[in-house]
Amino acid sequence: MDTDNIFKDGLFAGQRVLVTGGGTGLGFAMAEQLAALGAELHLCGRRASVLDEAAQRLRTRFGVTVGTHVLDIRSPQAVDDMMETIWTRHGPLDSLVNNAAGNFISRTEDLSPNGFHAISDIVFRGTFYATQAAGKRWIAAGRGGSVLSIVVTWVATGAPFVVPSAMSKAGIDVMTKSLAVEWGPKGIRLNAIAPGVIPTAGASGRLRPVDSQENAMATQNPTRRLGEGGDIGRLAAFLLAPQNSWINGQTITLDGADALANGAYFTQYQEWGDADWQAAREKIQALNASDKAQRGAA
Ligand code: HXC
Repeated sequence: MDTDNIFKDGLFAGQRVLVTGGGTGLGFAMAEQLAALGAELHLCGRRASVLDEAAQRLRTRFGVTVGTHVLDIRSPQAVDDMMETIWTRHGPLDSLVNNAAGNFISRTEDLSPNGFHAISDIVFRGTFYATQAAGKRWIAAGRGGSVLSIVVTWVATGAPFVVPSAMSKAGIDVMTKSLAVEWGPKGIRLNAIAPGVIPTAGASGRLRPVDSQENAMATQNPTRRLGEGGDIGRLAAFLLAPQNSWINGQTITLDGADALANGAYFTQYQEWGDADWQAAREKIQALNASDKAQRGAA
């Protein structure tokens, strides 16, 4: 990733940041930018080998301390245990990046309750558990903190065929606004980034399983390109920088104005028939199974 330094060296020195889902994709891109600026990083996720490899890359490249925590944020107890471990073994967090997500395209009428729960329990509930677990510790200690949540442009446009994700991300968007006011007097601020398409293996394989559509999406974007890790890394660093303490309760769109030009995603799937949906489901479930094998548990 491009971590071109537009920031002061050591901007995050002495700062401790947890990135949920930080071993891969957008989470790793943000971790990389923060590590480049001297932050101590904590990464959590479900796959130990993925986290270990990501942590080692950050240590080697930037010489920073990186902790890893294997858990599923769908468990409130596991989230609270992780926070307790960080606080007691390392010290208080300064920032939390709510990045972990789960998603797949499906006709809404085909979703099982478990399918709906898998996504909403990760995105909607898991993000709340992490935010509350950090917030209550900051409040008890009488110190401030910063929360940055990754939502998506669909919180404004809605999005067909990803309804559990769109509903859940909209909930995180309104959590950001609500807690910015409730916790602002305690020195805790909350902001969010609503990215457009920044291709990652986890998202592309589940949202565009049959054809990556990258050329068409780049062409339709007013900037004629898709997002890159550096784009979200730099915005995350800007929003989390302690000097920006007056930025609170905001969701910043980061999509090259794609949503303004083109509106909701995935309208092309309205043309799909049963066979297309079956093929998509098989590809997504093969990816889910391969991820699950790396977790070593069902
Ligand atoms: C219909 C499906 C399905 C599909 C899974 N299910 N895939 N249903 N179509 N394609 C159903 C299963 O049949 C099952 O229901 C239920 O979902 C749970 O499936 P599991 O595979 O057991 O779940 P699990 O292993 O817990 O995996 C969770 C997951 C998976 C959400 C399904 O996709 C995942 O781990 N994702 C993490 C990474 C990820 O999604 N990254 C992309 C984020 S993109 P039944 O009824 O059969 O038991 C994103 C975009 C917005 O968030 C943000 C942009 C920045």
